[in-house]
Amino acid sequence: MKYRFLPGLALLFAMLPVKAADTIHLSVDASKPGAKINRNLFGQFAENLGNGLYGGIWVGPNSSIPNTRGIRNDVVTALRALKVPNVRWPGGCFADQYHWRNGVGPRDKRPATVNTAWGDVIDTNAFGTDEFMDFIQQIGSTPYVSINIGSGTTEEAAEWLEYMTAAAPTALAKERAASGHAAPYKIGFVGLGNESWDCGGAMTPDYYVSLMKVYSRFVQNMNPAQSGKDKMLKIAVGPGTPDTQWTEAVMQAWKKHTWSWDIDGVSLHWYTVPNGWPPSTNSAKFGVDDYVKALKSTLFMDAFLRKQEAVMDKYDPEKKVMLTVDEWGAWHAPLPGTNPAFLFQQNSMRDAVLASLNLNIFARHADRVRMANIAQMINVLQAMILTDKEKMVLTPTYYVFKMYVPFQDATFLPVTFDAGTYTHGGISLPRVDAIAAKAVDGKMLLEITNLDPESPVHIEADLTGVTAKSVRAETLTGAAVDSVNTFASPDVVVSKPVAVTLQNGRISLIAAPRSVTVVSMKP
Ligand code: AHR
Repeated sequence: MKYRFLPGLALLFAMLPVKAADTIHLSVDASKPGAKINRNLFGQFAENLGNGLYGGIWVGPNSSIPNTRGIRNDVVTALRALKVPNVRWPGGCFADQYHWRNGVGPRDKRPATVNTAWGDVIDTNAFGTDEFMDFIQQIGSTPYVSINIGSGTTEEAAEWLEYMTAAAPTALAKERAASGHAAPYKIGFVGLGNESWDCGGAMTPDYYVSLMKVYSRFVQNMNPAQSGKDKMLKIAVGPGTPDTQWTEAVMQAWKKHTWSWDIDGVSLHWYTVPNGWPPSTNSAKFGVDDYVKALKSTLFMDAFLRKQEAVMDKYDPEKKVMLTVDEWGAWHAPLPGTNPAFLFQQNSMRDAVLASLNLNIFARHADRVRMANIAQMINVLQAMILTDKEKMVLTPTYYVFKMYVPFQDATFLPVTFDAGTYTHGGISLPRVDAIAAKAVDGKMLLEITNLDPESPVHIEADLTGVTAKSVRAETLTGAAVDSVNTFASPDVVVSKPVAVTLQNGRISLIAAPRSVTVVSMKP
């Protein structure tokens, strides 16, 4: 075991209740920049599901919960700190049953409908298109609208885009103006269906491709401000299992696309469901066995991406079409006592580590993977935020996204290291994971995840191609793998500054067990 004692770390060592840390050496090469880590990789997903929208975002203008035009202020403030690049809405499975006209115009005149995708609950349609756009504007994000190609029509979808984006005084633009929004909205992304192989209509790949072409042709953005580099991107449905049949069909069609239709991305969905479907792992009160299984399972994301990328490279070696992971995250059993159709789960230190591993995988695939959406934003699955009436708590996953903000649009830098191994119950994991990047403000960034739930790791990092003048680091860890934040104890797992030294160009720090650390260096 190699260990170099640094005076600045003495106190930290003395405080650690576990054995002295092994050393893992990292080398960051700033002279070999890679792809841009697209800010859209840090996107979110807000489906009309459970309390994701209603209660989580929308409380209505007459609520006693502080709000701006019906949207909760506490949630907006928390999300602004994440610089959320895009939000996918209204689904998910819900998207292919959503009829947008139910959600525009005076709210007291909107029809009540049934959310047949999620628990058959009554949907007041109070949170519709204009409310979503208001939310997007309040948090400073970009809309990613999933259109209904399952139970809807091409005409309905085309008219929705016209309602949102027409600048000229068409009837639909006037209708939008009458709702208080004279200026057209900017729509960043349109999803052409959702999981069309399953809840979106159980289509075959060929059937989907034919339908997708029609929607791509007729669903047009009419906002003149969105021509050229600001154009709205169209995203086709991709697979939800590692086989490549679906991607083959979509990419083969794309290769032969004509002037009349096009796509800019193909999505894939991959959840971490450690014991397989139906999700059965506890989201709170679990042990190292479950932690290790979940991390092993989540690391499969890398192989899944490689498989799909190989197909895309065959048809699109220039990587014009992006791969978007527009649903990912941990899917555990619903928290006992909650409506199982609402997919409400706690969020622990395990989920934070799992999030950082996925974000690092996306960064390594940044030349092709240029967008991702964690499922989901609030009160659903691996959420950033949990709410209960007026109460709100930020989850460990929230803090990971906050710590990764500087990575948005940063340039990937290669980092080499021998990760070591952590083994438990016959399952082996890399002991550490790491990525490096050059941020848009010129700072050098290094992220280190210590997967080992029991032991700290002493990290030594050398930089080639740049000299760091100052360094700071922030870390997120919990007392146990199942540490959670609750309404009563919201600060159990929060990110904090951590000791780091810079000597002769070498960074040195202790990465606590089960931790996520971001080091930022000023050149
Ligand atoms: O995120 C929950 C659901 O998971 C989405 O609605 C669907 O697309 C996926 O199966």
